[in-house]
Formats: sequence, C-alpha cells, structure tokens
Amino acid sequence: MGGEYGIIIHGGAGALRNTINPESYSEGLRRAVISGFRKLEDGCALEAVVEAVYVMEESGIFNAGLGCCLTAEGTAEVDAGLMDGSSLAVGAVASLKNIRHPILAAKTIMERTDHVLMVGEGAMRLLSLYGFKPDPELVTEAKLRRLHELREKWLSGADRKMSKNREIVKALSHGTVGALAIDRKGNVAAAVSTGGYWLKLSGRVGDTPIAGSGFYAENGVGGAVATGIGEYAIRLTLCRRTVELIRSGLNAKLAADRAISVVTSTFGEGTMGIITIDQQGGYGYSYNTEGMGRAIMMKDFSEPVVGIFQ
Ligand code: GLY
Repeated sequence: MGGEYGIIIHGGAGALRNTINPESYSEGLRRAVISGFRKLEDGCALEAVVEAVYVMEESGIFNAGLGCCLTAEGTAEVDAGLMDGSSLAVGAVASLKNIRHPILAAKTIMERTDHVLMVGEGAMRLLSLYGFKPDPELVTEAKLRRLHELREKWLSGADRKMSKNREIVKALSHGTVGALAIDRKGNVAAAVSTGGYWLKLSGRVGDTPIAGSGFYAENGVGGAVATGIGEYAIRLTLCRRTVELIRSGLNAKLAADRAISVVTSTFGEGTMGIITIDQQGGYGYSYNTEGMGRAIMMKDFSEPVVGIFQ
C-alpha cells in the first residue's frame, strides 16, 4: 500500500438523542480526531490512537475516563484496551477504580509488563509504581444524582434482573470511546476505553479490554473497534470476526456493515456499533443504534468529517 494514512474514532453508540448535547459532543470528537491525526503525521498509528482516546477521556463528555458512567453501587470502574498491529502486542486493563486515563494504563501494561490484561487491585498496585493514582473527580454529585434516577427507574420495572434488562440498557446511552489508525508505513493500531454502562454490577467487565472482542488490529489486514453492549461483542468475538471479513476480501465499509448485520440478527437492534479500517486506507463504520458519534480524518481530507446520526 502506498502511504495512505488516517484515523477514525467513535464516541459511543446508543440512544443518544436525549442524552447528549450535539454541539459539544461533535466538538469533542473533532478535537480528538485532530489531535490523533497530528500524532499520525509526526509519528505512528499507536501514538495516534492513544492520543485520540486520551483526549476523549479527558473531555468529560464521553463515557470514558473523566466522563465515565457509574456502577449500580456508585463506583467508577473503567476498562481500556490497546493493540499494535505491527507486533500484535496488546495492553489492557479492567475494573480500575477512579483512573482518569485508563488508556495510558493499558499502554503501561503493554510496554512495561509481559502480560496483556490486568485487573482490579493487582493492576492498581502495579500502576501506582508508574504514578497512576485514583482520581476522586470521576465520581461527582451530578453522576450520583443520575445514578439514583436510573436506579429508581430500573427497580420500578417489572423485570429486575440485569441479564433481562436489555430494554432498559437500550434506552440508556451506552458508550465507549475508540480509535483506529493506519500510518504511512502501513502500521495499524486500535485503542478503546469505557466506563461500561450505567447500573452495571461492580466487577463486571465488558468487551473493551478483551482483544478480539472490543478491539483488534493486524498489519496487512486492518482493524476494528466496537462500542455497545459488551456482552454481545464478547459472545461474537466481534472485532476479530470483522477483521477476518476484511482478510477474506471485504473492504472496511462492507466488513463493518456485515458485522453489524450479524449482531442485529443475533441480538437485535439498538445493541452495537463498530468502526473499521483496512490496509488500503479504507475506513468504515456501522451501527444498529439511534446514533454513533464518529469522526474521520484521512490524509487527503482538508478537515475532519464528524457525524452522530444517519
Ligand atoms: N462496550 C463497552 C462495555 O460494554 O463495557
């Protein structure tokens, strides 16, 4: 391939119409994709995706880092994953309490340890060696008020079991943030970060830190990053499956559409979104939810293309 490079990001998929401010949300996406693209011009795909996700975590607008949702117990437990398609190196973290930039924690696992995924207390102890500290700003009064409202609504429903709560979860904004990039040398990288979804049980882990489910990147083929109900992405090993579609000859756009049609036929509408990139520098996205925030900046674009709804 001949030096095609670019980045595609998402800010989560879900019932967004009543839960976001479209102006600030779009501006948050625009800022993140531009920051990621700058890294891509000077550096590599891995730095670009980490930067884009970092900016979204820091914004407080998205369900990641500072803006993460809360568990049913009112705790902030975040997950993140990162993959370098040139070496298939992976770093991921899960159930980290009050960590503002879980994507940097995932990068630390990738670069400083022989492991790929670390969770909970052990991960926190290790990360403290590298300067990570819990940040109380992740649990705010406003978030606790929202949790209270959501919990009341949940408990007053006919069905109280979490596993049966798809309709409620569908009605909430379930987001994640993610980024995929390809650099001038053809290196592909994927990064993803999330708070999960409101009312998840403490200790629950979704697709975001699971390589092959929430993210996947492989040089010579392409990459995929998912957003939505993580349990479904895990059960389908969605991102690896999508990259296999690209390997079999589909371009990024067709692979994204095919992947989401599999999700919809298996688990129904309102469940998932995905972004993709292929080795030719093609990109794609697809979702079966009301909306999915996304922004794309490729080599030949004069400015980013940002969208939320169809
Ligand atoms: N896709 C994010 C999660 O389910 O945790």
